[in-house]
Amino acid sequence: MEAVKEAQAPGTRAKTQQFEARPISWRLGSEILGLDLKRSDEISDDSFRAMWKLLGERGILLFRKQGLNHDQHLAFTRRFGPLAVTGLTSRYAPEGYPDIFTVTNIKKNGERSETENAAQQWHSDQTFLQVPARASMLRCELTPQFGGDTMFADLTHVYDDLSDGLKATLEPLRAFHSLFCTRSKVMKGRKTLSEDELKRVEGEQGAMQPVVLRHPDTGRKALYINEQCVDHFEGWSIEDSRPILEYLYKLAEHPKYTYRHRWQPGDIVFWDNRCTQHYAPLDYDFAALDQPQNRRLMFRSTLA
Ligand code: SIN
Repeated sequence: MEAVKEAQAPGTRAKTQQFEARPISWRLGSEILGLDLKRSDEISDDSFRAMWKLLGERGILLFRKQGLNHDQHLAFTRRFGPLAVTGLTSRYAPEGYPDIFTVTNIKKNGERSETENAAQQWHSDQTFLQVPARASMLRCELTPQFGGDTMFADLTHVYDDLSDGLKATLEPLRAFHSLFCTRSKVMKGRKTLSEDELKRVEGEQGAMQPVVLRHPDTGRKALYINEQCVDHFEGWSIEDSRPILEYLYKLAEHPKYTYRHRWQPGDIVFWDNRCTQHYAPLDYDFAALDQPQNRRLMFRSTLA
């Protein structure tokens, strides 16, 4: 277990909270113990730097039993850096909190939620933007009695295991990411966008991203593609790109690269989008969403 001791900065509010970290799987994820995130102003900048470093190394940080409200959630997120721009996700924000994205299967006025299956394909967040989200923080309010899990894949580990030949082929490539890509399920079944939303979605139409991303903090390379948003490799047709992409998606799904999070209300999971991808497998009775034991309610903040 790692431990970080806090130093109290003179003339400021006491930064009294200390944390310990312990792995939750072999290579992916660490649980942070000892912090009350409701009082994130009592956590020192040194601790935030240490947690950020650990996030790059371990890909995911888990905080249990926090019970944060929206303000506390945003205050904690902001200590790591500025929030990402919200475009389309702000249509799913709770009232008064445009920076929070609601992921839920709970019906509103009898209508199905448009985010009930928002993570039904493996993805890293906002890779379709020129500046994708560095990290995301998901908070669990309600989870089904059985299932409702989120799976994470360690894309550094996947990259490490590729053959040298395939690494050399992928290294110089870029891929076009878009919410409207041929394979994406994200935009399917959504209501028509309003004029205002159409304006906001400009610039979200797509972006070229490196296929192999060197993590700026750890210096380690990770595979940076995902089945939700990647359309094709730059200069390649969709048909030519597809077999390699499908091979890589399949590889990255292998259980040995994954951690599966079984949510408890109050959990916060903070992930690094530059070296992980995630997926919610809808592993509960999706045909019986009206039953209270199947309700899932999550809130996400995103870092630029
Ligand atoms: C997300 O992709 O932000 C949501 C993941 C989930 O619903 O588990």
